[in-house]
Amino acid sequence: MADKVVLAYSGGLDTSVAVRWLKEKYKVDVITLTIDVGNEKDFSAVRQKALKVGAIKALVIDAKELFVNYFVFPALMADAIYEGQYPLATALSRPLMAKLLADTAVTEGAAAVAHGCTGKGNDQVRFEVGVNALSPKLKIIAPAREWGMTREETIKYAQRYDIPVPITVKSPYSIDENLWGKSIECGVLEDPWVEPPEEVFTWTKSPAETPDQPAYVEIDFEKGIPVTLDGKKMDGVSLIRRLNELAGEHGVGRIDHLENRLVGIKSREIYEAPAATVLLQAHQALEAITLAKDQVRFKQKVAIEYADLIYNGLWFTALHHDLAAYVQSSQRYVTGTVRLKLFKGACRVVGRKSPVSLYSFGLATYDKGDVFDQSASPGFIHIWGLPVKVQAQTQLIGETEGPLSIMAPKKPKES
Ligand code: ARG
Repeated sequence: MADKVVLAYSGGLDTSVAVRWLKEKYKVDVITLTIDVGNEKDFSAVRQKALKVGAIKALVIDAKELFVNYFVFPALMADAIYEGQYPLATALSRPLMAKLLADTAVTEGAAAVAHGCTGKGNDQVRFEVGVNALSPKLKIIAPAREWGMTREETIKYAQRYDIPVPITVKSPYSIDENLWGKSIECGVLEDPWVEPPEEVFTWTKSPAETPDQPAYVEIDFEKGIPVTLDGKKMDGVSLIRRLNELAGEHGVGRIDHLENRLVGIKSREIYEAPAATVLLQAHQALEAITLAKDQVRFKQKVAIEYADLIYNGLWFTALHHDLAAYVQSSQRYVTGTVRLKLFKGACRVVGRKSPVSLYSFGLATYDKGDVFDQSASPGFIHIWGLPVKVQAQTQLIGETEGPLSIMAPKKPKES
């Protein structure tokens, strides 16, 4: 009996060719594993195709809930956004896929797993570091990294073995989709000077085509997790789905990111992430009203670390465990409602409230009802400015260069 390999299978050209190639090259039986993380697809057609191109078994796992609860929401609570732009949709799905590949290898008695990534991207790293962390004994095969075929050659190979070449192969773009967003690269997008053609966007309308009336959405969060949309209780998967439609309709969530890959390459990726854009903004708006200043400041640093570790394939690490504990703790009072306005490609927070809000009207108001004791301010200013005054008078006043040279005292007029 031949050895078995579990291949992460999308149904696209590369992974379909990989089924055949693995059989030829490694003389193995291939079991395909297709993971549903909310990429709208006809999964029964994907299964059929896997069997047609030679898999001995084709599995599909609905992992949408796992994805949202174990990956997306923790990242949302952390406000994880890579390089200030990318909500990490693709990156978040890879450790989950690594886990399901490793589990399936056990249940199917396979000694190896395989994925369709090339040797130039981040995803190979995320898959393999993940699998190695979970099941270090599993062998990992990366056909598209090994076979050294160009796109043309891959198509020829497919034709030779009667592997259907999808029409989408004519599209020059490489696309990855899940509930948290769509990633698009290659083709003309590889020239960072070229504006992304309208055809790359399928989740978001062009602002020129969006409704002339804004839409308002209200989102309730409980301890950092979105639980209702416009007053309606919803599970995470449905809420994200609905928000993708709503915000996409108003052109919200287009991102053009010139990013730094882990493997040292600068690359340009276009993202569509309507729900992620709205939720991340709403969540931060709620934190602004429920967290103290220093909590927000510290959390912003944590957010950068958190985003980096997701991007860099370090999900299954103790650093992650530790940071997640901090984030979880920080969310105890992140409960309340945020109202946002979606209009012509923009998403703006226009209202927020919380039963545990730290915003005090009495302290903030300039009108009637002011409870702030203004007579305390002179003393505060005296102490706050004390070291400033001492240093200014002893050192800075003599500065002759730079922006502070303007401090030189004006000479009295000679008469
Ligand atoms: N650049 C993104 C990342 O590394 C997405 C990678 C996959 N992109 C794609 N178009 N297939 O997470």
